[in-house]
Amino acid sequence: MQASASVAHRAHKIAIIAGDGIGREVVPEGIRVLEAAGRRFGFSFVWREFDWSCDAYLATGRMMPADGIDKLRAFDAIFLGAVGHPRVPDHVSLWGLLIPIRRHFQQYVNLRPVRMLPRIDPPLKGYPPGKIDFCIVRENTEGEYSEMGGRVFRGTEEEFALQETIFTRRGCDRILRYAFELARTRGKHVTSATKSNGIIHTMPFWDERFAAVRAEYPDVRTDQFHIDILTAHFVKHPDWFDVVVASNLFGDILSDLGPAVVGSIGIAPSGNINPEREFPSMFEPVHGSAPDIAGRGVANPIGQIWSGAMMLRHLGEEAAADAVEHAIESVLAGNGPRTPDIGGNARTHEVGEAIAIEVSSLP
Ligand code: NAI
Ligand code: MG
Repeated sequence: MQASASVAHRAHKIAIIAGDGIGREVVPEGIRVLEAAGRRFGFSFVWREFDWSCDAYLATGRMMPADGIDKLRAFDAIFLGAVGHPRVPDHVSLWGLLIPIRRHFQQYVNLRPVRMLPRIDPPLKGYPPGKIDFCIVRENTEGEYSEMGGRVFRGTEEEFALQETIFTRRGCDRILRYAFELARTRGKHVTSATKSNGIIHTMPFWDERFAAVRAEYPDVRTDQFHIDILTAHFVKHPDWFDVVVASNLFGDILSDLGPAVVGSIGIAPSGNINPEREFPSMFEPVHGSAPDIAGRGVANPIGQIWSGAMMLRHLGEEAAADAVEHAIESVLAGNGPRTPDIGGNARTHEVGEAIAIEVSSLP
């Protein structure tokens, strides 16, 4: 009792950016479950909400204020919903908020677990829950998503666009090392996504760095596939993978495919992680603002809640993180409420409440 009384003072300072569309519907459920975990495990949260979104952009011309990055710097982590609105071009919402946060805070790891949960009817049949369980480690600050390039001869017949890809040795090595370190805590197997047959400068360099880093981890099994056949293996042999490491673009594509293979994008979590902890990391579901279902109260909050579990793990609250993941699984495995995307008719808050109650009632 003494020990739990002393840890009761642990408080985590979290910045909330609910964003747009269903982001505003699923973030409150994430907070509800995190609060329940804090009460159960003897810690608390200091939340501060930032109303940065496409609505803010439409009103002010900015996704976030000019000093937005400075405002976030002092937090332990950022808990984000999703941004995107049909009236705002997607490159504006992405480059006005998410990408600056990822880059300024050196969140160079985008970690996206893919796990088959109980009683979710996946497009692939024949795999029991848990048989498919891997992580995608996506490079999150450079690669194909660069600002280098431009447009020349605009509006003429000679018009062209040029987009440069940047692979630095530092950027490649640190993401590859993160993947190998993560594999050591799991199945000790790393798969590299490449395309060194078609992309002849950057991808052979990526392969070279993969070989160099691999040499430091003789206990970890490795393989590599070109991205085209790798997408086919995700569908045909999803149980082959443990940790899949990929450049920014390839990782982005794989991490929508992975969740689709195990069920609904509505359950997929992600972390934008600064492993050195010099800056806050950011946790958000993989899905976007889903304008097609926004405002109806039927969005699946599990991706947001599972992202909250990843945030707890990052904050050092391992037991609470396990409890939240376990609560998600037991609500799904039992006759708990489920949203329409996974075959139920429950509302967003009913799922959040059921998971929060499960967390609170853990022995
Ligand atoms: P999306 O993920 O918002 O939606 C894709 C499909 O999945 C839709 O049919 C949607 O209804 C469904 N879906 C997504 N999340 C769900 C949930 N939690 N429960 C039930 N169904 C769910 O992707 P889309 O349509 O390509 O993009 C919509 C907007 O979101 C765009 O403006 C896009 O730029 C933005 N976006 C933002 C992201 C972020 O904030 N990190 C990531 C991806 C897209
Ligand atoms: Mg994506």
